[in-house]
Amino acid sequence: MTIDGDLYGPAAALYDQLHVGPASPLLVRFFADLTPEGGRALEFGPGTGRVTLAVAERAASVHCLEPSPSMRTVLLTKLAALPRLRERVTVLDGAAPEFRLDSVFDYVYLAAVLEHIPPPARRPFFAAVAAHLAPDGVLAMDMVDNEPVPDEPEREVRSVRQGECRYSRSTAVWPLGPDLAGVRHVYRTYLGEELVETETVERLHHFHRPPDVHADLAAVGLAPVPGPPAGPLADKGLLIARFPGAAPTPGFAQREEK
Ligand SMILES: C[S@@+](CC[C@H](N)C(=O)[O-])C[C@H]1O[C@@H](n2cnc3c(N)ncnc32)[C@H](O)[C@@H]1O
Repeated sequence: MTIDGDLYGPAAALYDQLHVGPASPLLVRFFADLTPEGGRALEFGPGTGRVTLAVAERAASVHCLEPSPSMRTVLLTKLAALPRLRERVTVLDGAAPEFRLDSVFDYVYLAAVLEHIPPPARRPFFAAVAAHLAPDGVLAMDMVDNEPVPDEPEREVRSVRQGECRYSRSTAVWPLGPDLAGVRHVYRTYLGEELVETETVERLHHFHRPPDVHADLAAVGLAPVPGPPAGPLADKGLLIARFPGAAPTPGFAQREEK
């Protein structure tokens, strides 16, 4: 079966098992450490909430804009089991680049989401973010890098067992241009040895190059904070941006001291 519409429909229930990789805790820590204690946070594309829940531990509030109904369902189900976060996390149907909220935020972030935003939509998106960002606020994202567009045949990336079923995700990536790839995820369900269901999702992956991103940030009055982290997160394309003259970045200095 091939899915139209909710691209994360087939992935949502097992997203944490089939899509989240071994570097995930470090990436979550990167985003969580930037959270201003007691501040107001805005997240684009929270998915199943792997970063949201860590940010919510420090923020006074987290507003989440998530276009996938399936991902919202998983996130809300997780939140239902965490009553102490009930007041703090707001989950809305929304998406970049266009959004309007009647609030200003101390921290705006997106993790593993930029691939869904076409480069021409990036500057309007940053303009909307800048209009919702407090003067000392922080914008953080990943997926800003110079990695070449991959060309990888389908292979099984991850699999997980649940009862007598085994669920797997296989992925293929192919170039469509200098900053664009096609991605196909095939989700298979096996009962014992028998293949009982196959769901396929095809979508685009947009690449965001540092000089273009920096130019779009500058156009809306934001500037990248120098000194991206080295080590295991070096290939994640992490970027922090702020208004020039803003107070020192929470968490960033802290991380450099580690
Ligand atoms: C790869 S998942 C990442 C989920 C989560 N941020 C994480 O790091 O685990 C991408 C998420 O972005 C959402 N998304 C897709 N297009 C979006 C857009 N234009 N604006 C906001 N979120 C979007 C998807 O529905 C999905 O939940």
